Amino acid sequence: MAVEVYEGALDKGLEGVVACTTAVSSIVDATLCYRGHTIESLAANASFEEIIWLLWNNEQPTAEQSTSLMNELSENAQLSEQTLSFLHTLPVKDVHPMAWLRSAVSALSLWDAQSQDLSEENQRRVGVRLMAKMPTLVSFFHRKREGKDFVQPQKGKTMAWNFLYMMGGEEPAAEAVKVMDMCLTLHADHELNCSAFSTRVTASSLSDIYSAITSGIGALKGPLHGGANEQVMRMLFEINDAEKAPAWVENALANKVKIMGFGHRVYKNGDPRAKILKSMSKSLSESTGNSKWYQISDIIENAVVSQKGLLPNVDFYSATVYYSMGIPMDLFTPIFAVSRTSGWLAHAFEQYSNNRIYRPRGKWVGKENQKWS
Ligand code: COA
Repeated sequence: MAVEVYEGALDKGLEGVVACTTAVSSIVDATLCYRGHTIESLAANASFEEIIWLLWNNEQPTAEQSTSLMNELSENAQLSEQTLSFLHTLPVKDVHPMAWLRSAVSALSLWDAQSQDLSEENQRRVGVRLMAKMPTLVSFFHRKREGKDFVQPQKGKTMAWNFLYMMGGEEPAAEAVKVMDMCLTLHADHELNCSAFSTRVTASSLSDIYSAITSGIGALKGPLHGGANEQVMRMLFEINDAEKAPAWVENALANKVKIMGFGHRVYKNGDPRAKILKSMSKSLSESTGNSKWYQISDIIENAVVSQKGLLPNVDFYSATVYYSMGIPMDLFTPIFAVSRTSGWLAHAFEQYSNNRIYRPRGKWVGKENQKWS
């Protein structure tokens, strides 16, 4: 008896499939908007706290609302003694920080007796709790790995300030805070990307928010998604010499090797975030004595554009921005996760508010009529 084969259209990687309606962020040609505001105007004018408010509430916050959210987040950023003693039991040696972060975020639900409550009020409470603790978790990992004591965040400070403060253990320079705040803004959301979709798929079974965000972190970790920024810096180190860059690119393309930080499923005329990050990378790498890495990046970009017609995406120049700030390479993707948690939460809230479980079909291509002996 022939197996009934599902005859619907097959779209490998769901290219072009519209899986849900969304009002969180949009991509039209080369224009990215959060809630109808272009990324260029948000990067120039809004703080990350204002972005979070915008993504979660679908409106620009007043000054009081944004300050109140900043205070709420900084108060929730602290880790309890109970959580800290658990985190100290997790290994950090030879552990990728994204694997550690995925485990830590999942574990946070174990100290939240209301984690299963999907009421709107509780969704927001869990959202604030999770959002607030993301930078603290990443900093905890970083300092523990370096053999340094954990630094609790300060109340009444922005997420960008507190993150750099906890990482370095001292008050950060205003310019560094500004750069970090802009990086968090640029990475906050991006329509139905792989990790936002994973978050929504998990939420669609009416599972809890911790599970949904854990799914997002797992999807972001991969090198075809958020993990690309770390791989970009590793590639720059491997090339190491601007003169060698064009031949390196030619060889990679001839061998069908994916060049990290290039290409995009949706943008065919360039990623607007990459343009902003390129100019940040240029000025920051020059002012910190890291211009060599910017120059190699620029040559790689020219070579990939001329040889393959592919343009850089968000991960290409964010690598040199973070590197110039003295951030270890394997923390680039966790910083992406800190920022993107704001968007994942907005997607989870939206999914719960208009839910239908995601359940696509698979086209059968396997054996038929097998007999078990
Ligand atoms: N380097 C070299 N070739 C690339 C490439 C890259 N970064 N990105 C795409 N291509 C090529 C593919 O090999 C393929 O070429 P072919 O038609 O000659 O076989 C073509 O472009 C289409 O690529 P495909 O992988 O099918 O595109 P996709 O839409 O499935 O994937 C990405 C999109 C982003 C996953 C892909 O461009 C990629 O892997 N980029 C590198 C990783 C990265 O930077 N990820 C971060 C995304 S924000």
